[in-house]
Amino acid sequence: MSGRTSYDRFLSPTGRLLHESAIRRMGTVVARAGDLVSFAPGYPDSALFPWDQLRAITHELLTGADGTVLQYGPTRGYAPLLEALVDVLQARHIKASLDELMITSGSQQGLDLVARVLATPGDVVLVELPTYTGGIAAFRNAQADLVGVVQEEDGISLDDLDEVWQRVRAAGKRAQLLYLVPNFQNPTGRLLALAKRRQVLEWAERRDVLIIEDDPYGALYFEDVASPADTRPIRADDERGRVIYLSTFSKTLAPGFRVGWMVAAPSLIDRFDTAKQSVDLTSGTLDQRVVHLAVRRGVLDALAPRLRDLYRRKRDVMEDALRRQLGDRLTWPAPKGGFFLWVRLPEGCDDVSLLERALEQRLVFVIGSAFYVDGAGHDRIRLSFSAPTPERIEEGVRRLAAALKPAPVSSL
Ligand SMILES: Cc1ncc(COP(=O)(O)O)c(C=O)c1O
Repeated sequence: MSGRTSYDRFLSPTGRLLHESAIRRMGTVVARAGDLVSFAPGYPDSALFPWDQLRAITHELLTGADGTVLQYGPTRGYAPLLEALVDVLQARHIKASLDELMITSGSQQGLDLVARVLATPGDVVLVELPTYTGGIAAFRNAQADLVGVVQEEDGISLDDLDEVWQRVRAAGKRAQLLYLVPNFQNPTGRLLALAKRRQVLEWAERRDVLIIEDDPYGALYFEDVASPADTRPIRADDERGRVIYLSTFSKTLAPGFRVGWMVAAPSLIDRFDTAKQSVDLTSGTLDQRVVHLAVRRGVLDALAPRLRDLYRRKRDVMEDALRRQLGDRLTWPAPKGGFFLWVRLPEGCDDVSLLERALEQRLVFVIGSAFYVDGAGHDRIRLSFSAPTPERIEEGVRRLAAALKPAPVSSL
């Protein structure tokens, strides 16, 4: 044999199937290009990472005599951070005991662990249309069959949910998991109405389904249109353990720490703990210690109003720029929090060819179809306003307008 080894024949069935997140792929494009405006990944604005406090906390931890700061830690997480989370959750109206909690390496790991432990190959996992690409990847990698449920203005349609469930059952399949992002959903920015939160919980009871509630953006509501009362987690009213709740410090403190957490019944947490042991033994010990002190010293609480204000202003900048530069050619549901505008394209324009033209203008965003499990969404794109400065948002929208210009008709 000559030449370099080809590895295809070595790949396991899972290795062959692995699904890459569309957003990560966009990230690679961003990393390679120079003067590119990126509306693609849902990155927080690094200007508001609390650099001074984090520097002081890290210095303190690394100059002390406590060797455990850099030692392996329990898979379930650093105990004082778990205790601090009980209070963080209390403020979100969730009562959780320590045996219902586990730290994960970002909430993305929480999704992966849920998929590993609960998704049976060939079984259906119900998801919103559209939904977060990282959720799609986690469940697809576990070889689940993803079936979509339509969304209305105020979140998932309960009628469609039950119809889809019945259809799946009539086809002889099982559907035991429902994945939801109720607060400022990625990608639509939508907020699930409070009444629907109660109804979906009742529905899950009736149909014997577990809800996976993914809540990275709940704290990032825009005070002009939403309040903390609107973001009450489904888990807050879950008395029977129907909901597995996932959250993270990625959007409110810094994603580089890779510290997220999950809340579930103790018997499920035991399973997730065992699954995590073979994935990474423990989430980063130093990361957890820094996050713990940041929470306990009020860094997070002091930061939250500034984040809400910053992202609301950036939303305004992007919406104003789109209206000014593109008139009414593009429409989107007004987001009440979070990082995204979910934009509907003009008649006849599709997401993939628009992205190609945008890349020529040195602009990148995520194509709408990446968020659909049924092949739809070519008439949408997701624009993220969280990371770029207001000036770069203006410039990006100018490039988007250039990409949207109809190609000149050549006259012979
Ligand atoms: C809905 C949703 N879930 C999970 C994640 C992953 O977050 P983490 O950084 O905590 O892994 C993201 C990140 O964009 C997200 O938007």
